[in-house]
Amino acid sequence: MKIKNATYVKSCLKLSDCPSPDRMEVAFIGRSNVGKSSLINMLTNRKKLAKTSSTPGKTQTINHFNMDDQWYLVDLPGYGWSKVSKTQKAEWERYINAYLLERETLVCLFILIDIRHTPQKIDLEMMEWCAMNQVPFVMVFTKADKLSKTKVEGQVQKYLKQLKMNWETLPLHFVTSSETRFGSDEVLEYIDSLNSTYAG
Ligand code: GTP
Ligand code: MG
Repeated sequence: MKIKNATYVKSCLKLSDCPSPDRMEVAFIGRSNVGKSSLINMLTNRKKLAKTSSTPGKTQTINHFNMDDQWYLVDLPGYGWSKVSKTQKAEWERYINAYLLERETLVCLFILIDIRHTPQKIDLEMMEWCAMNQVPFVMVFTKADKLSKTKVEGQVQKYLKQLKMNWETLPLHFVTSSETRFGSDEVLEYIDSLNSTYAG
């Protein structure tokens, strides 16, 4: 699948402000600075569709992007940003949880993970929360260009090995780089398959 026409729709905080739920959507979540917005730009082949920044905490709202008038791609704010206050954190959780639990057209959450890191508590908790709440998700490893090919494979295996200690079935995973476009086709094919299931 190739995305021909990607446009920004709107940014909102509340679920009730989101565009009307009339088509399938997938959303990207993960720690601040993991590369959510960059991945969206890579998939859509647009340099500046989603705003990126080297300062964590750039994306602060639920951002909908219209993909070929067929489905929505949603950029979510990052979690685990140390500079936010407890009140802000609680607020974030409240509106993101509402979005994840109640958005009826959300078919899959893409949980992004920096390939260079060992499993972080906050990411594992996010995945556990999804499993408990029946929110379908996949893992997307980001920034693969920062490691050699062998190291990338090693990191993925280490990560999966740790997940296996607590999980019976492992979530689907993708390895990507927004720098080199590595993994772009695989992610798009997967979204295409979600689209077919949704339409079917
Ligand atoms: P927040 O919106 O703050 O939560 O961050 P985000 O997850 O949207 O991250 P963003 O896409 O803004 O990227 C953060 C930084 O990482 C930027 O400086 C990007 O250029 C860099 N970056 C993102 N993806 C990649 C990648 O695949 N490879 C490399 N080398 N850098 C990347
Ligand atoms: Mg962002």
